[in-house]
Amino acid sequence: MDSSTSTAVEKLCSIRGLLIYESFLKNWDNVQAFQANPDDIVIATYPRSGTTWVSEIVDMIQKDGSAEKCKDAIFNRVPYLESKNEDVFDGVKQLKVMASPRLVKTHLPADYLPASFWEKNCKMIYVCRNAKDVAVSYYYFHLMVPAHENPGTFPDFVKKFMSGNVPYGSWFKHVKSWWEKSESPRVLFLFYEDLSKDIRKEVIKLINFLGKKPSEDLVDKIVNHTSFQEMKKNPSTNYTLLPQNQMNQEISSFMRKGCVGDWKNHFTVALNECFDNHYKQEMKCSTLKLKTEI
Ligand code: A3P
Repeated sequence: MDSSTSTAVEKLCSIRGLLIYESFLKNWDNVQAFQANPDDIVIATYPRSGTTWVSEIVDMIQKDGSAEKCKDAIFNRVPYLESKNEDVFDGVKQLKVMASPRLVKTHLPADYLPASFWEKNCKMIYVCRNAKDVAVSYYYFHLMVPAHENPGTFPDFVKKFMSGNVPYGSWFKHVKSWWEKSESPRVLFLFYEDLSKDIRKEVIKLINFLGKKPSEDLVDKIVNHTSFQEMKKNPSTNYTLLPQNQMNQEISSFMRKGCVGDWKNHFTVALNECFDNHYKQEMKCSTLKLKTEI
């Protein structure tokens, strides 16, 4: 592919109230009709919540800790279900030709996931990250992915984020949709902040959830292979295999900072107060509690 080809800004379209990229919408019928297999494993997140991190951990678990078997690009090993982009991605097409057990990445809220995944009782992992760090990370993602409109200043972007006027809509609705499903033993609800605080514990949780034995050797291998430093320099996880017209990593790295609490470097006191008030309103009826620092 010619990496100098420029990418047009993608329009956002609404599907039943959810904002997604226009090219994804064109493929929506194929996504909704997708036929799951009972052993598919779904990794669902709001964008910039640790999808790639947990995808790499899960694939390492499936491959019994063999980094050698995880050499292909993460977007080939864990196809992005609803993605459809002429140049690079077609999640449905990729998954259809993939051998089982398949790993499936999605950013869809629980109520938008194709029905077949629920009917087949697939295992699902949801990774949730605190809204303020997501907003920061998503802001840089908007700057570095040319398909996005210029997000303006950070406060401008936060306002859009609060009102859900960004791809995949409201963070609040998204996390609540999955939190409601988390009572099911088939849904494992994880927090980015817990992964940051005690990766061993969360890796063991994932290994148990996937029905494997958490031997010390396996846990060690996974923890080492999926550290921020390792994943940042690994071309199969750092997205440097994508051409610059898809992701411009000279503007910002895909693997940017990988920490909890970077929001403190971006939110002014006034913006933080405004965000906290909005947050309280949106989350007042929910039992979901997130940490914004560790
Ligand atoms: P930052 O922009 O805050 O650095 P996603 O994969 O859902 O797009 O999420 C990307 C975010 O997860 C980025 O956050 C990225 O740095 C972080 N991330 C990816 N791998 C990580 C790892 N191994 N450890 C910590 N954070 C990681």
